[in-house]
Amino acid sequence: MCGIVGYSGTREALPVLVDSLARVTYRGYDSYGVAVLNGSGIDVFRRVGAVDDKPSDFHADGTVGIGHTRWATIGGISELNAHPHLDCSGQFAIVHNGDIDNYLALRAELEAEGHTVRSDTDSELIAHLIEKYRDRGIVSALERASHDLDGCFAVAVLSYESREIVVTRRGSPVVIGLGDGEAFVASDAPAIVGKADRVIYPEDGDIVLISAGSVKIFSDGKVVVREERALDWDQSTADKLGYEHYMVKEIHEQADAVRDTLTRYRDGLPPLPMTDPEHVLMLACGTSYHSALLGESLLTRLGGVSASAQIASEFEPDRPVPDGTLVVAISQSGETADTLNAVRALKAKGCMVIGITNVPESNLAREADSVIYTAAGPEIAVAATKTFTTQLAVLSLLASQFAGRHHAAGLPDEALKLPSQIEITLSLSNEIAAVGNWLANHDNMFVIAKGDHYPVALEAALKLKEVAYIHAEGVPAGELKHGPFALLQQDTPVLALVADDKHRARMITTMREIAARGAPIVTVTDRRDAEIDACSRYVIELPAARGIFSTVIFTVATQLLSYYAAKARGCPIDRPRNLAKSVTVP
Ligand code: M6R
Repeated sequence: MCGIVGYSGTREALPVLVDSLARVTYRGYDSYGVAVLNGSGIDVFRRVGAVDDKPSDFHADGTVGIGHTRWATIGGISELNAHPHLDCSGQFAIVHNGDIDNYLALRAELEAEGHTVRSDTDSELIAHLIEKYRDRGIVSALERASHDLDGCFAVAVLSYESREIVVTRRGSPVVIGLGDGEAFVASDAPAIVGKADRVIYPEDGDIVLISAGSVKIFSDGKVVVREERALDWDQSTADKLGYEHYMVKEIHEQADAVRDTLTRYRDGLPPLPMTDPEHVLMLACGTSYHSALLGESLLTRLGGVSASAQIASEFEPDRPVPDGTLVVAISQSGETADTLNAVRALKAKGCMVIGITNVPESNLAREADSVIYTAAGPEIAVAATKTFTTQLAVLSLLASQFAGRHHAAGLPDEALKLPSQIEITLSLSNEIAAVGNWLANHDNMFVIAKGDHYPVALEAALKLKEVAYIHAEGVPAGELKHGPFALLQQDTPVLALVADDKHRARMITTMREIAARGAPIVTVTDRRDAEIDACSRYVIELPAARGIFSTVIFTVATQLLSYYAAKARGCPIDRPRNLAKSVTVP
């Protein structure tokens, strides 16, 4: 959480920094700030809220600067706690993403040494450590400061003295962008798409010195060379392209994203660390956990391997793990602390780990024994949409690999038809929007389903909460009468996901019971008939996609429903309150 950016080159730094910050705002949007070198010091601007356009009261002419967008962890949301933070002398400004675990002891130590700490943050202490260790130059100062820090961090320091930026990381992501006579720093590549043409991902502990647009990297005091790669995302992947929100743009990108993911692994997945596991344990959080639940069915039924899904934040490292367990960790960002902690604990027990992620060079990608990438492209909206459906594509491929079918051609036809069925579902947008507008008038609702569609109900409920601020609960249809029925009233909509599968009759029975109590039902189904019409207020009819793959189609429909309900409620769709795109704190 929190996004850091930096620039050193020949352009005015301020607009570059503000634009980059706007592009990583999904990492946190409680407050933001920039620091730019001028002829006599450092100009610092900080504000509460999210950066959107160049703020009119920010003026700086310098060509070197850093910036930050914050998701508050230590210290409340205020201008004082916003980054960049300065040391006592005002010669150094820092921006920080991560958490410093020993900040209380460090603060006491620095204050005892005479430093004046102004904010309540852990981050400001880094500026004072740089000041403390400044005597041997900025690279050494950052190296020595890092040794004093427990926890994870990506830090950029702007030095007035040397007119340089130094950057380091431990556990938190950072990317260095290279252009013609200019260099960029960012937490994520989308911040510098369209600006840099090459990128370097520093290793943990590297110190990157950026001086007049050129970059030098140090490890243990020695200059090292790290691989430079082309930044091949084009600008359009990081722009809204005429859509009102990133979320709806990304929902509409799903047909291509799923197609690209299936195509990428047409000739097979990368070598897996275990080909014949006794059991596959899938770990993930939030939306990725819902894809793990579907992965459980995919691996068990298509792959013929025993599998289970577990919420990573509930993982207990002291529980024994049976021999022959292969771990599959799913995280679009690859940075979710709870997922990474579970992975580390399982690796320490000797388990092999497959990571499924959308972000190359993420911690999960670095730490897993084998990585399968979703080809979703950058996902900017906080709500996960295309990364979810591409995770399902990857899990289908994994299931087919376990089943001994090594080519996409071996995937069931239903999987290969998914992109075109997603397109048909997207073409229902206007109809779904009308239902979303109606749902928007309600504050509480249920989403019910059975079997494989139950994880879709959970995911739909999460989306409705997250983007539309509707309290939605995903419930297995048969469980309603064991308690939740007590909450059904005439203004409690029930969204029923009715697939054309073995559970259909039971779903319809439950819907009749709901209708008898006067609660309005919105039915999403891939087989409409008179029985469904009789108990539904609205029916959204989807293309027929049989079996477990129909869950993808149902998901797309419920994403649209949540989006349009959120839009009608006037919610800040791409940046829901209190959330951030990647949750890097446990
Ligand atoms: O990056 P990850 O997939 O590990 O993120 C896990 C959750 O934080 C994430 O899926 C979250 O639930 C989504 N923002 C929901 O849309």
